[in-house]
Amino acid sequence: MEITILPNRLMVTQEKETLMEALVRHHLPVQTICNGKGTCGKCKVRMTGYVSPPSERDLAHLNELELQAGVRLACTVIPQAGMVIELDFVESQDRKESALLGMKASKLDPGVKKVFIQSSKPTLTDERGDWDRVADTLNTVTGKDYVNADLAILGKVPDVLRTDKFALTVTLSQDTILELEAGDTTKRLYGAAVDIGTTSVAVALVDLLQGTVLKVVSTENQQTAYGADVISRIAFANDGHESALTLQRAVRRTINHLLEELAVKTDVTGNEIFKMTIVGNTTMHHLLLGLDVSHLAVSPFVSVCNRPLEFSALEMGLEINPQARVSLLPNIGSFVGGDTVGAIVGAPEVLGPGNHLLIDLGTNCELFLKTETMMMACSTAAGPAFEGAGITHGMRAKQGAIEGVTLTENGIDCQVIGGQEPIGICGSGLIEGIDEMRKVGVINKQGKIADPEKTQELSPELLKRIRMGEKGREFVLTYGTAQGWNVTLSQKDIGEMQLAKGAVCAGIKTLVEMAGITVPELDSVTLSGTFATYLKAHNILNIGLVPDIAPEKIKTVGNAAHVGAIRTLLDQHELTMAGELYRKISHVELGGSATFSNYFMNSMYLERLS
Ligand code: FES
Repeated sequence: MEITILPNRLMVTQEKETLMEALVRHHLPVQTICNGKGTCGKCKVRMTGYVSPPSERDLAHLNELELQAGVRLACTVIPQAGMVIELDFVESQDRKESALLGMKASKLDPGVKKVFIQSSKPTLTDERGDWDRVADTLNTVTGKDYVNADLAILGKVPDVLRTDKFALTVTLSQDTILELEAGDTTKRLYGAAVDIGTTSVAVALVDLLQGTVLKVVSTENQQTAYGADVISRIAFANDGHESALTLQRAVRRTINHLLEELAVKTDVTGNEIFKMTIVGNTTMHHLLLGLDVSHLAVSPFVSVCNRPLEFSALEMGLEINPQARVSLLPNIGSFVGGDTVGAIVGAPEVLGPGNHLLIDLGTNCELFLKTETMMMACSTAAGPAFEGAGITHGMRAKQGAIEGVTLTENGIDCQVIGGQEPIGICGSGLIEGIDEMRKVGVINKQGKIADPEKTQELSPELLKRIRMGEKGREFVLTYGTAQGWNVTLSQKDIGEMQLAKGAVCAGIKTLVEMAGITVPELDSVTLSGTFATYLKAHNILNIGLVPDIAPEKIKTVGNAAHVGAIRTLLDQHELTMAGELYRKISHVELGGSATFSNYFMNSMYLERLS
């Protein structure tokens, strides 16, 4: 049976399979954290046209607004002929995407250009070959000697020449001819900057003539079906050649799916994209290239390649112009990859005079420290809590996510993205919520939720929000509507955040100590990462995510890694500079460090930490 996947795809389903199983089988993006058990509530899709009645699972996980809008859990839906399904209805609201829109280059020199030439027609007195004729004119116009062209280019010369009266546009990268097009297409030149995260992938479409970001799309990394974090991906890849290939295909598909989405949402086709830059952690980098990851996770933690790399899109299996150059930013070490280099390029003030710390918060957390005498980087396994994963009602920072919490003894006020009914809580809401709960005494500095039977300090309004849930004691942030969903923070959620923030704080202290400076001697602390944009300095300090430092030294910069990918796309000098960084930054391994372990034990408390 066939069903439609918006915007324009037909999917054939098999008897007895759920919609989730069919989507997974077709490698379409759907979150399947509980693998169809109906407990995670993440496999949301929207049904347009015919909408099946909500199941018990739908009622348990979806709020009234979602139910009314036709949202259902894919693992509960049995496909029926004629069904129309929308997969990325939530992604389109993602704040990650809008933050980069309108970004404009301060310097524009992408290293790719188009040249329009009017070639002469052959005559009996001018019998030069078609390509000879083009090459001669091109050499005259540019003053350079472009005598070589790939066979693929050579093969299209006769057609291109005769399509528009011997007028054509040549696309050039350095000394290489990338494309020939009939007529004048010099007003259209595009690039794509890709950020491959462990959890999600984002692609920015960039106008290389104007230096502006036109559109950003993102979706879940299809590799998540094979493991939530880099360690489980490496373990899967180590199962054998076929498993490694599966992961390579999954991330390629994710990128190509986003390129397809960009083509649908803009008038720019993949063939018009002539340059691509890619940032990602070392594991994502290796899996995309099909490189052996087996040595990344065992001592002495060695990558196959750290230096910057460049390939053609054709070699990479990416659906942009086949001759387009695809540049991968270098890695620094086994768990500090091109995303960290991208973040440094995206927040260049961390390279300025003085001591500067960059914290790139994601599923993995990378730290970069620059002092007057050295540059060092390390990674610390923060886990996916900052991205909302592993948290009962965790979600990314998009419509319906609680992003801020204010608690008083009279009750609670939640700020929700889009001002709508809350669906869940994102990283910034989680951090602010925990800080507020600690401030009013709902939790103590060990992170323990107060026992309502034994505490007299809390107001009745707050006391009634503490209850026993399925996973132990929990605090109700918002009560849902009649059939809706209460957003709660459980004891386990708070513990997850303590582990994550403890790892970050201990990593900072260890790195600073190794550099021979103290935390107060830092001139700036920059937090990057999508969710970091919405963090407030006092919350970060109060819960001990960052060791105690003057709040004015803390700043947030959003997804600097993706900004770095865009900057290197727009300016080849930035790309060269990024390419050189990997040799200049020392990689520090925290695993097995006694200093780190000691700091970690003391960094779990929810208080200002010196
Ligand atoms: Fe978890 Fe559907 S896959 S609820």
